[in-house]
Amino acid sequence: MAGVNALPAGSKDVQAMFGRIAGRYDLLNRVLSARLDLRWRRIAVNLLPEGRGEALDLACGTFDLGLAALRQGRAARIHGCDFSVPMLAAGTAKRRGLALSAAAGDALRLPYADAAFDVAMVAYGWRNFGDPLASARELRRVLRPGGHLLILEFFRPVRWFPKAFYATFGRGVFPLAGSLLAGDRTAYRYLHDSVQGFVSTSEAERHLLTAGFAAPRWQAFSGGVSHAVAVQAV
Ligand SMILES: C[S@@+](CC[C@H](N)C(=O)[O-])C[C@H]1O[C@@H](n2cnc3c(N)ncnc32)[C@H](O)[C@@H]1O
Repeated sequence: MAGVNALPAGSKDVQAMFGRIAGRYDLLNRVLSARLDLRWRRIAVNLLPEGRGEALDLACGTFDLGLAALRQGRAARIHGCDFSVPMLAAGTAKRRGLALSAAAGDALRLPYADAAFDVAMVAYGWRNFGDPLASARELRRVLRPGGHLLILEFFRPVRWFPKAFYATFGRGVFPLAGSLLAGDRTAYRYLHDSVQGFVSTSEAERHLLTAGFAAPRWQAFSGGVSHAVAVQAV
C-alpha cells in the first residue's frame, strides 16, 4: 500500500505517532475505556439509517467503526482510509472475509471522487485533521446529497464532569498506561492535549452546518466524555 506524502510537519508527527502505536492500539483502547469504546461505537452506528450502501470509514485505524457498521447493517461495503499504513495493516488483518477495502490518504485531500459514498464515518479522527471545517467540507464533497455522516469524537469539554475526567484520567492515567502498555507516553499525552485543543460540541455543530450538513442528532456517552453526532448532506 502506498504511503501519504506532502503532509505538513505537524501532521507528519501525528502520522508517525500512530504508526508507532498501531500494534498495541486496540489493546490500549480496550484497557483505557474498560471496553466502553466498543459499546460507544455500536450505539453511535445506530444513529445511521439501516442501509446497504457504500461507506467511507475515514481515519479508520484498525476498522472498529467500519466493522460495527457492517455488522449492524449500516453499509454493504466499507472503504477504510487512513494516513497511517501500519494502522491500515493492523486493521486489514481483522477483515475475515468482510467487504472491507483500505486506502492510504489524507483527510484534507481524500482519494475519492465527488459523491462517491452513501455514508461517511469518522471515529476519534476529526480532532487530528488540523482544520475541522476544511475536513468537514472534504467529507461533504465525497458524500452524495442526502448521504449521512457519523462522527464519534472527544470534544473539548465544557461541563464539569468531562473536564474533571480529562484533568485526572486524561492528563495522568492515560499517559502512564500508554507508557506501560505501549511504551509510548507521548502518544497518550497527545490524546489529552488534542482534546483540549479541539472544538466543543457547539463549535463542531457550527462547522458541520457551514460545511453543508443539516439535521444534527447528538448522543453523549459516559456523562459527556465522548459524543457522537449524525448529520445529513444537503
Ligand atoms: C484515534 S485513531 C482512531 C482510529 C479508529 N477510527 C478507531 O475508532 O479506533 C485516529 C486515526 O486517525 C488517523 N489520522 C489522523 N490524522 C489523519 C489525517 N490527516 N488523514 C488520515 N488519517 C488520519 C490516524 O492515523 C489514526 O489511525
